[in-house]
Amino acid sequence: MLNTWQSLDVRGKAVILYLGGRGSCRAAHVDGLTITRAARQEPRPPIYEHSTFSRSESCTAMSPGGKRVLRTMKSIRHKQALVTGAAAGIGRSIALALAREGADLYLLDIDEAGLSSVVAEAKQIGVSAIGERCDLSQPAEISRVLSQMLQQWGHVDILVNNAGVAYYGPTHSMTAAQWDWLMKINLLAPIQITRELLPILLERPDAHILNVCSISGLVAGGRFAAYHTSKFGLIGFTEAIRAEYGRRGLGVSALCPGPVLTNLYKSCASAKSDKSVPHPPRWLCCSIEAVSKAAIRCIYRNKRMKLVGPLAHLLAWSKWLAPGVLDLLNRASRKRKKVAVAGEAEARRAA
Ligand SMILES: NC(=O)c1ccc[n+]([C@@H]2O[C@H](COP(=O)([O-])OP(=O)(O)OC[C@H]3O[C@@H](n4cnc5c(N)ncnc54)[C@H](O)[C@@H]3O)[C@@H](O)[C@H]2O)c1
Repeated sequence: MLNTWQSLDVRGKAVILYLGGRGSCRAAHVDGLTITRAARQEPRPPIYEHSTFSRSESCTAMSPGGKRVLRTMKSIRHKQALVTGAAAGIGRSIALALAREGADLYLLDIDEAGLSSVVAEAKQIGVSAIGERCDLSQPAEISRVLSQMLQQWGHVDILVNNAGVAYYGPTHSMTAAQWDWLMKINLLAPIQITRELLPILLERPDAHILNVCSISGLVAGGRFAAYHTSKFGLIGFTEAIRAEYGRRGLGVSALCPGPVLTNLYKSCASAKSDKSVPHPPRWLCCSIEAVSKAAIRCIYRNKRMKLVGPLAHLLAWSKWLAPGVLDLLNRASRKRKKVAVAGEAEARRAA
């Protein structure tokens, strides 16, 4: 059913109509009030052959004044997307999901072998893909690669800040270098890339920034302090950019998955190199595919924040509804740890 349609002088013009509650966008050549029938009879545009999302999921809603009030992406096809940390795990999956939606890819990572395999897979899907080695802990390298990309493409429509690393261990034994390394990759690199690309993204009619944050950016536990700090910061940055540029038509989303079994745990830096970092149990984890599907949905629908997985929902809602409960659980488990820390200090003094 046609719920609303907005336009002042539409005779003989192509207009975008907001149709129905869930919203589907149609362009129709109209003549006065025959607009209704013309728009209804317009066949739906074909869905991109690999796409898991129909185009009817996307629209630009119009307020009575004709201003854009809700920007959603009409199509990812032929858009240019930059994805960091694309050689493995969640980044790889998001890159390939974007390729299936028809986006051309510019992929960054330090893992060159992983990059070439994603590039080959994306090309098989039928899009153009370029892989570039870039160490995100090096600001000069980031600037060099971004200007190289802009020379090649001239612009970019979708930015996915995905690359991330973790450190596991007691915060009091972390060095300044370990803090710097983690904060550079997880927080300062996304800020730098966004800052350098914002002027170009704002010029594009349909641009989006997707920051791969984490439930660890909403709820904190022990022994991952640097990781939590970087992800809380990234969510704050995402919200600030959305508040500042959302009204100018830029889409900005924070994707917050719960635990996912990727190399993040294997490659996690740790205070004790001989001890492996504990992995979350499989049943608590969500799949990589669920995360990349949520990422594509964020881009199409311009989601503010998207939680992925049951644990992410449970923890986020517990914190929002009863913040004291999580704090109580953390403090109760800390009592036993206090004894261990005191023992460690005594042993150090004795030595
Ligand atoms: N795995 C999880 O449980 C989980 C949960 C929530 C959010 N996340 C977030 O998802 C993102 C991707 O993590 P993942 O789980 O796929 O991990 P992953 O280790 O599988 O992938 C991370 C990618 O980043 C790349 N990378 C690491 N350091 C880099 C650097 N200095 N420069 C460029 N690239 C670098 C790695 O080579 C790798 O390809 C991270 O931001 C992570 O914080 C992960």
